[in-house]
Amino acid sequence: MDVRPLCSPAAFYDVETPCLLLDLDRVIGNLRRLRGAFAALRPRVFYAVKANGDPRLLAALHAAGCGFDVASLDEIRCLQALGVPAADLVFSATVKLPGHIREAHARGIDYFAFDNQTEVAKLAHLAPGAKVVLRLDVPHRGSRWPLGGKFGAPESEAIDLLRLAAARGLRPYGVTFHVGSQCLRRETWHDAIRVCGRVWHAARDAGLALQLVNLGGGLPARYTEDVPGVAEFGAQILQWATATFGPGAEYAIEPGRFLVADAGTLVTTVIGTAERQGKPWCFVDQSIYAGLLEVIGGWTYPMATCKDHLPKRRVTLAGPSCDSTDILAADAELPDLDVGDQILLHTAGAYTTSYREYNGLRFPEVVVVEAPLARARVA
Ligand SMILES: Cc1ncc(COP(=O)(O)O)c(C=O)c1O
Repeated sequence: MDVRPLCSPAAFYDVETPCLLLDLDRVIGNLRRLRGAFAALRPRVFYAVKANGDPRLLAALHAAGCGFDVASLDEIRCLQALGVPAADLVFSATVKLPGHIREAHARGIDYFAFDNQTEVAKLAHLAPGAKVVLRLDVPHRGSRWPLGGKFGAPESEAIDLLRLAAARGLRPYGVTFHVGSQCLRRETWHDAIRVCGRVWHAARDAGLALQLVNLGGGLPARYTEDVPGVAEFGAQILQWATATFGPGAEYAIEPGRFLVADAGTLVTTVIGTAERQGKPWCFVDQSIYAGLLEVIGGWTYPMATCKDHLPKRRVTLAGPSCDSTDILAADAELPDLDVGDQILLHTAGAYTTSYREYNGLRFPEVVVVEAPLARARVA
């Protein structure tokens, strides 16, 4: 789409808002920087589709030789419709819908993550003989969006799980982890690599030689605070990984946020202003319920307006919905804005539009029932 910048003093772009402008060249530049930073490990890069599943973005990444980390059948179907071969897909969700495992296997996918016994039983039944990668519970210090607790087998259960997988005819292939999203602390990868290293060597001693270390996601993008560059992460992770796993290990990495966040700019328009208990409020046409759910987790986006040369005040920036939790920023530093003025939210390319159908998982269909529910259940 041709997005013409406007000359109007209050607006930046001639677009209907809210709208996410996505710069695909920037995404490919980020991929190149990532590959450069990790070159010595030669990891296969699997973009985490959940961060932003726009088909034009996926096609550009596919053309650049990137693989994909998927969490559902709809993501797989979309990627295969774009011509992505099954060998470029890793099914990294650790607890998968049974029907998704069956169809993914039938579609040729041969890489499944797991972290519990029930998943081993499901995979053995629905994807017999598949390669399986054990996700381990690792520390999440320094991560702005921790994923700990829900995912990852404790180290103490790792060998039993790998043995069980082998006994059920699956092929234990490697270990994986996720340090939590937007992880600013490089040493947290060291903590994780230490956990994986102990499991890796114990597995070898148990006669289960593993081949792959998947370094997961978590690389940060720059929002309102400075973050270490990808080259700094790459240099240190390289040192820790080679010292732990030795030569011959294969590597994979599953970046989401790092590849797409800073390639996206959300354009929103002021729809109203008010003064509440002496504080200015500014209402825009972008709701947290229409994509900005990370705001609930404390996220703030760098903002720009065409009136940034004017004095600024602390403003409550609110979405248009009829819910009082729909606040995009409780204390945004903004100039006085008028209805029709645009606000740009930078670094908004990741985890914004994807909540429309997060992980490719659908909202429930509404089934209208004619009989009272209690009786319908019995019938
Ligand atoms: C299994 C897996 N891999 C990769 C990612 C991408 O993480 P990030 O966006 O922090 O790079 C996620 C995010 O939730 C994930 O669950």
